[in-house]
Amino acid sequence: HDALDQRADAFEILLDGVAVQAFPGETLWKVALRAGERIPHLCFKDAPGYRADGNCRACMVEIEGERVLAASCMRAAQPGMVVRSASSARARQAREGVLELLLEQQPARTHSPDRSSHFWELVEHMRLPAADRGPAAQQPDRTHPAIHVNLDACITCGLCVRACREVQVNEVIGLAHRGARAKIVFDFDDALGDSSCVACGECVQACPTGALMPATLVDAQGRGDSACAERKVDSVCPYCGVG
Ligand code: FES
Repeated sequence: HDALDQRADAFEILLDGVAVQAFPGETLWKVALRAGERIPHLCFKDAPGYRADGNCRACMVEIEGERVLAASCMRAAQPGMVVRSASSARARQAREGVLELLLEQQPARTHSPDRSSHFWELVEHMRLPAADRGPAAQQPDRTHPAIHVNLDACITCGLCVRACREVQVNEVIGLAHRGARAKIVFDFDDALGDSSCVACGECVQACPTGALMPATLVDAQGRGDSACAERKVDSVCPYCGVG
């Protein structure tokens, strides 16, 4: 902490009424985390190699002087900024609205491919009521020996696309169509088992809902749980390509 204090380029912002230290280029999400507040997030993964995309809007904060809420995973801190996160009813309502809309389209938690996913933890943390929507409507894709796919649980956050293309530099997963028809596809909309996937497992680690899960953690009914086991995938290193 002392080393941080000594950085010459450090400046202060006000977060929920408390002066906190920030650095040039640092996002509000990161500043809040260092100050002890974990702002909800879905399409952003706090790990090396992952860039923020700002598409889910689960991380909204209020900035004094701005009419529109800002995505904290994207917005860089500026000296003197006055930011409200936990203390902003507007930001809280916006985040809840995002989660409620996504919940409408999810299989029930009891039927989820990962009932311990980051998404369900967030729903629990935000104390949102989740209606029992029954099992998923689509048939899961079980064609891959290591990865179970259930696109009913997909929120098209794009994390798996960035994991595949930008972190592992494979080109298997893409986002097809727009708006309500948007969905992730493997190669040319192939079944995952027929695609060029090398089973590196990066997308499984990144997926916040369990739409992509290790096949070993999902039962015959498509229900799974990563709570007792990490999402480990039997993988082939994509860099050598020979296993
Ligand atoms: Fe910031 Fe999705 S986590 S917009």
